[in-house]
Amino acid sequence: MEKFVINGGNPLRGEVTISGAKNAALAIIPAAILSQDVCRIENVPTSISDVSFMIKTLKHIGAGVKLIDRTTIEIDSRFVNSYVIAHDMTKYLRASYYFIGALLGRFHRARVAMPGGCYLGPRPIDQHIKGFEALGAKVTVEDNAIVETTADELVGSPIYLDVVSVGATVNIMLASVKAQGLTIIENAAKEPHIVDLANFLNSMGADIRGAGTDVIKIRGTDHLHGCTYSIIPDQIEAGTFMVAAAATKGNVLIKNVIPKHLESISSKLVECGAVVEEYDEAVRVSMDTRPGKCNIKTMPHPGFPTDMQPQMAVLLALADGTSIVSESIWSNRFRYTEQLMRMGASITVDGQIAVIHGVDGLRGAPVRADDLRAGAAMIIAGLAASGRTEIEDILYIDRGYENVVEKFGNLGGDIRRVYCVEPFSNADAG
Ligand code: UD1
Repeated sequence: MEKFVINGGNPLRGEVTISGAKNAALAIIPAAILSQDVCRIENVPTSISDVSFMIKTLKHIGAGVKLIDRTTIEIDSRFVNSYVIAHDMTKYLRASYYFIGALLGRFHRARVAMPGGCYLGPRPIDQHIKGFEALGAKVTVEDNAIVETTADELVGSPIYLDVVSVGATVNIMLASVKAQGLTIIENAAKEPHIVDLANFLNSMGADIRGAGTDVIKIRGTDHLHGCTYSIIPDQIEAGTFMVAAAATKGNVLIKNVIPKHLESISSKLVECGAVVEEYDEAVRVSMDTRPGKCNIKTMPHPGFPTDMQPQMAVLLALADGTSIVSESIWSNRFRYTEQLMRMGASITVDGQIAVIHGVDGLRGAPVRADDLRAGAAMIIAGLAASGRTEIEDILYIDRGYENVVEKFGNLGGDIRRVYCVEPFSNADAG
């Protein structure tokens, strides 16, 4: 078992380079099998565990995957020979369900176990199924555990999403890109990684227009070819470092970012009193006063991202005044507040609203990472707090943050990964 040990109180200072976007990589890696050719993908965050699982899954269905260097992979999809993915491959991450769309697109058939991933509340896939069915696929869900979908042929169709869903938008794009005729996704998600997936598929010869708006038009193509493509920088990793800089009263230049993707985060930081300077491919965040309060409501892009809500709550826990955080995407995304309260935060949660009464300072404590972004919030809290914080269950953090100890360490954060013995339990007895 591993944990992070943090001695807080150092303002973060210096420069950090952001990795490729996890959520874009998780959509683009399975998309590569639609080509029956070789795709070279650059700026891949190869050392996060979610990406390793996607690569393992690709190999399991017969794809060749070569690591060219630390951030570049080559996927050879010519010999993909299976449309079946079992539970041991899907149980760790949500995005494993993108193989349903990709296999359906390639073989007109997929049999994929239900995905795992962070528990943020119920995560239904009804909109994905609605999309596959609209394209002509027959979908059955066996024992709530395996999704089986088959189609004699896939035919483009208009599909209106009842909720704005990133996952359903991605899956329908993957399934429809080689369908006959025109698919129109209405009320589509507009996240930067949706645009990145569309750009990747277009560079393989697809015809996708409108990604980044709420109407995406996909004209099916018979053949997709290999390509070389570079993934966008990770919006949420960048946002995490921006908030960490502000919460520790530091001054950090965050490089390899697309400032436009960070606008909702920058504007909230400015509202709290931070200085945010934008450059072509970098932002600098500095703060030298106590943060001010502000209210946040999470919304689909271009609104404030739900995946930045826990990190921002740490800053607000230290603010001068009371802030209100409304979570409108996930029904169970405030579990981390209990951990923050162990560090001295004052937070009341009522359903999907958290009222945060800012305190003068946080103090180190033993806490755990409830999920990926909750874990990121614990790191920021530990770095900003006085004294020692120990974070358990860091496997969640390793799912989505590359070289997190090195990156925070280079900025002056005192954070170490330590190996510790599993606590004795009854299972070990006798
Ligand atoms: C993706 C992100 C996740 C982020 C979320 C919202 C990845 C791998 N994960 O998750 O980090 O928090 O977007 O920005 O990219 N819904 C339905 N029916 C469906 C699908 C979704 O009701 O068929 C609901 C969900 O319960 C949720 C909302 O729609 O309330 C948004 O979910 P969605 O955008 O699909 O999230 P994910 O793609 O799972």
